[in-house]
Amino acid sequence: MATDRLLCNLSFILLLFFNFHFGTGEIQLNYYSQTCPNAEEIVKEQVISLYNKHGNTAVSWIRTLFHDCMVKSCDASLLLESINGIQSEKKSTRNIGMRNFKYINTIKDALESACPMTVSCADIVALSARDGAVMLGGPHIEMKTGRKDSKESHLAEIDASLPNHNDSMMYVLARFRSVGIDVEGTVALLGAHSVGRLHCLNVVDRLYPTVDPTLNPNYAEYLKGRCPHPAPDPNAVEYARNDRESPMILDNMYYKNIMNNKGLLSVDQELMSNPITSPYVEKMATDNDYFHEQFSKALLILSENNPLSEDEGEVRTDCRFETRSLRYAISKSDLDHIAASLAPFMDYESDPSFDKSQFVNKNVEATGFNPGLIVLLVVGGLLITFLVGNYVLYMYAQKTLPPRKKKPVSKKKLKREKLKQGVAVPGE
Ligand code: HEM
Repeated sequence: MATDRLLCNLSFILLLFFNFHFGTGEIQLNYYSQTCPNAEEIVKEQVISLYNKHGNTAVSWIRTLFHDCMVKSCDASLLLESINGIQSEKKSTRNIGMRNFKYINTIKDALESACPMTVSCADIVALSARDGAVMLGGPHIEMKTGRKDSKESHLAEIDASLPNHNDSMMYVLARFRSVGIDVEGTVALLGAHSVGRLHCLNVVDRLYPTVDPTLNPNYAEYLKGRCPHPAPDPNAVEYARNDRESPMILDNMYYKNIMNNKGLLSVDQELMSNPITSPYVEKMATDNDYFHEQFSKALLILSENNPLSEDEGEVRTDCRFETRSLRYAISKSDLDHIAASLAPFMDYESDPSFDKSQFVNKNVEATGFNPGLIVLLVVGGLLITFLVGNYVLYMYAQKTLPPRKKKPVSKKKLKREKLKQGVAVPGE
């Protein structure tokens, strides 16, 4: 009896814990119908306009959703900068190559001018991925909204949550299963690699010192041409395409390629060599509609992973900072300044005018102070150190050095003195 009660209490505590830990947020279709009726339309307009200026933004939105939602929750934690004790998730090596973050704020700004403090950044991540997929010729997906933004980043949890490019297929399937996505859905989601690019850093282990025998020889030649160095400079923008035929179209070319041993990552190729996943690869390679249907279902599940409740989350006004941090910053230009100095170089790769060298090794941990104040403190500190140092040296010299010898009196001065006293000077 006592044991039963103990177990019952224990399960209650566990239930409370899981509710707290995994979020209990309610999301629904048309969440903003009363508070910001045009929210979804505004996101769509912005996604289209950004796509027309920078086509690769649409590609980025799909990857952003994966990297945000797979780590704990769809809560825009990925967008937070390192400030006020927060360690940005953008620093993680799993997030290498992520780009176009700065344009998320373009979407946010449009929403803030229409409906201030209403639409969450987490919903922007979800809706922009949905609309980005359409721009790339993918399916349209009905998505719920009402997600809340997290107040913290989950940097420490990334490695255990996001699969790596050389993880085994069994591990990858287990990771996706943990967020409710089955084998068919996992195969479909990896079809996102039908668009975009991959930095050489992530593929050289398949090319050097010897070429992975499972790679199609022609494709291996192309890859070696794109990635000629076994140890690529991590700051160089050296990349290859998964799908060379239609790199900006979300289609089933990806599956046709891996059936021809043209999978870019080892995880891509494993979809074909693993007997559990290969039947779905074959089906998707022959039926683009089936691929789109499965992709929609799986992306929807991913986009609804553990939404935060009202209490756990918030609606950020600037997607890069949780609201508390904003109290310390003076103006939007200050925020832009902080973000620019903290942003990892990857985000700017698409901007040819961007000088990456200025950001290398700049792991600045901002504290929420005004940058002007920091400069003032540093300069003041240096000045005080200089003055105190000089004073100490002076005191030391006074005590230890012998008294200065008197300067010998010049002949001219001697003559003048003697004349004054009326004494004859020798030689006169
Ligand atoms: C096992 C799972 C996955 C692994 C290991 C993986 C890994 C990678 C890697 C290493 C890159 C190249 C990054 C670079 O070097 O620039 C990449 C690119 C990309 N991934 Fe994945 N990925 C996975 C699943 C997904 C999923 C589920 C999606 C979306 C639904 C996705 C969307 C993308 C997109 C769109 C790109 C191209 C990004 C760009 O061109 O900016 N990936 N992925």
